[in-house]
Amino acid sequence: MKRITALFLLYSFAMGFALTGTAVAAGQPLIVGFAQTGAESAWRTANTKSMKDEAAKRGITLKFSDGQGKQENQLSAVKNFIAQHVDAIVIAPVVETGWGPVLKEARDAKIPVIISDRTVKVDDDSLYACFVGSDFKTEGKLVADWLVKQTGGKGRILELQGTPGSAPANDRHSAFANAIATTGLKIIDSQSGDFRRDNGKQVMEAFLKKYKKGDFDIVYAHNDDMALGAIQAIEDAGLKPGKDVLVVSIDGLKEAVQAIVDGKINCVVECNPLAGPVVYDAVQKVVAGQPVPRISYNKDELFDATNAKAAVSTRQY
Ligand code: AHR
Repeated sequence: MKRITALFLLYSFAMGFALTGTAVAAGQPLIVGFAQTGAESAWRTANTKSMKDEAAKRGITLKFSDGQGKQENQLSAVKNFIAQHVDAIVIAPVVETGWGPVLKEARDAKIPVIISDRTVKVDDDSLYACFVGSDFKTEGKLVADWLVKQTGGKGRILELQGTPGSAPANDRHSAFANAIATTGLKIIDSQSGDFRRDNGKQVMEAFLKKYKKGDFDIVYAHNDDMALGAIQAIEDAGLKPGKDVLVVSIDGLKEAVQAIVDGKINCVVECNPLAGPVVYDAVQKVVAGQPVPRISYNKDELFDATNAKAAVSTRQY
């Protein structure tokens, strides 16, 4: 706690939170720049909608940039926001590394940065105000723990990874691998499907050329879109997803929870994309010079055959 308070004070000091001259002080609408990752998945579409809708609701002027899955696009978007003197910048970083210099530029310009959805790795914690999003390590561990329980700790796993270098791909892989390390569950192959449905299908098709029925037992997809693509490939190959092969994934799309009800996916761990309210709460506090927690994690649920039917109608994305 002491460390968090110290970090906040350090950050506030570094940013020079003198509110004179800011939109808040002048009673004008806040101007926020949002450097979004891209539009790779249904999760991302829901995330963008939540950020846009909530900004409109709060009278925040949102400058939105779609990074199209490329860090270089996100870096130029952030530089543009700095040049436009926005009141705050929100980044959902496509990959974890390479953010130090642009965050320093924002700090020099006294523009606070809120990191949302995916974490960054930087040497200096005072380069951004706070992180708001899901705990990807917990997600990976929850999926692994569910599998250990269901299989008695035995099975050969094909892993569909997210975007290389991204926090969710790194964390969902490492936490999952750690959690199964001492069990008889083994990852026998692993390929990136870039969090995209088409790529998930293609990677699964390639796996199915390499591995026949009986060579593997489980498909672990880092997101629902890739799982839904993989299911299609499994069905096209004449196998029954959810029965011949266990399918587990992360996000909690309504479509994926419905696939549990239909018996095609076995377990989904939620990763809530509806970030608008929590992100702008943080933005408004930071801009007003109020303290915010260094890290705020969403509370995410797990869906399987025991609760999917009751949950499906309430899914908002
Ligand atoms: O960063 C969150 C991940 O990115 C979601 O799991 C995935 O669907 C998205 O593309």
